[in-house]
Amino acid sequence: MVIIDGKKVSLELKEELKASVEEYRAATGKVPGLTVIIVGEDPASQVYVRNKAKTCKEIGMYSSVIELPAETSQKELLDTITLLNNDPQIHGILVQQPLPKQIDEFAVTLAIDPAKDVDGFHPENLGRLVMGHLDKCFVSCTPYGILELLSRYNIETRGKHCVVVGRSNIVGKPMANLMLQKLDATNCTVTICHSATKDIPHYTRQADILIAAIGKAGFITSDMVKPGAVVIDVGINRVEDASTKSGYRLRGDVDYEGVSAVASAMTPVPGGVGPMTIAMLLKNTLHSFQRTHAL
Ligand SMILES: NC(=O)c1ccc[n+]([C@@H]2O[C@H](COP(=O)([O-])OP(=O)(O)OC[C@H]3O[C@@H](n4cnc5c(N)ncnc54)[C@H](OP(=O)(O)O)[C@@H]3O)[C@@H](O)[C@H]2O)c1
Repeated sequence: MVIIDGKKVSLELKEELKASVEEYRAATGKVPGLTVIIVGEDPASQVYVRNKAKTCKEIGMYSSVIELPAETSQKELLDTITLLNNDPQIHGILVQQPLPKQIDEFAVTLAIDPAKDVDGFHPENLGRLVMGHLDKCFVSCTPYGILELLSRYNIETRGKHCVVVGRSNIVGKPMANLMLQKLDATNCTVTICHSATKDIPHYTRQADILIAAIGKAGFITSDMVKPGAVVIDVGINRVEDASTKSGYRLRGDVDYEGVSAVASAMTPVPGGVGPMTIAMLLKNTLHSFQRTHAL
C-alpha cells in the first residue's frame, strides 16, 4: 500500500512557490499578498490563522492578519473587506470560519472580490469550476490539494469511478465537480453520497477512488472499500486519548488500520490532505498575483 504523503508534497510545493515568488520579486519588485481576517477568539481558528501567516512569510509572500473582536457587526466586517478589495498590495483575502452568529457567512463570501477569493468560495469561482474554466477561477483549497496529490502520485483517474462521501460547499461539492471535469487529471464517473443516502457501503464498494469528507471519525471501514481502491481521507476529527499530553488525537473519517490492508494507496491523518490545504491557498494567492500583473 502506498502512503500518499501530503506533508512531503506540501513541502515540495512550498519550495516551488518560494522560488516563483523570488523570481517575481526580482523581476517586478512586488510580491503576492494575503490577508486573513479573524473575528472572535476561537482557539482552533487562531492556530490556523497563525499557521497561514507563518507559511506565507516562509515563502516570501506578504501577509497580514486582521483580528476583529467577537462583537464586530456585519457592516464593520464588510467595510474591512471592501478596503482589502481595493488594496493593490493584497491579492488574496480569506475570512476564517466559523464566524460569530450575528454575521451572515454567505454575505461575507459574496463581499469578497472574486478576483481575490483565494478560498474559492464565491459563487462566481464555484460556477466557473462547475463549467470547467479552471484556469479562470480559484478552486477551493482542499479539493485542489487532493487533485495535486492524485496527480503527483500518478493516480490514474480517467474513466474511474470516484465516490465522494460528503456534499459541503467547501469540500464535497467542489471535489465531486472537479473529478467530473474533462481533464487529464480527472475525467471520472462520479457518485456523491450524503446523510440521506441509503446503503452508503453499496456505493463506496464500487469506488476506484474513494474520497471521505464527512466529519465522523473512522466512518469508512474496510468492508466498505473495494480491494485496490485509492482512498483519500479529508476528515479531521478530535478523539479523546488519555495517553497524549493534550488528551486527544486527530483521526480521519477512514479507519486507517483496517482500510490500509485493502486499499492500494491512501492518505494518512494527520499528514495527508491537511498540509496540502495551506499550500494550495498560497498557490491560489500566487495565481491571483500572476493574473493581476499579467505574468
Ligand atoms: N484536511 C483539510 O484541510 C480539511 C478541510 C476542510 C474540512 N476538513 C474536515 O473534513 C470533514 C468534512 O468537512 P466539511 O466542511 O465538508 O463538513 P460538513 O460541512 O459538516 O459536511 C459534512 C458532510 O458529510 C455528510 N455526512 C455527515 N454525516 C454523514 C453520514 N452519517 N453519512 C453520510 N454522510 C454524512 C453531510 O451530509 P448532509 O449534507 O446530508 O448533512 C455533509 O454533506 C471534517 O472532519 C473537517 O474537519 C478537513
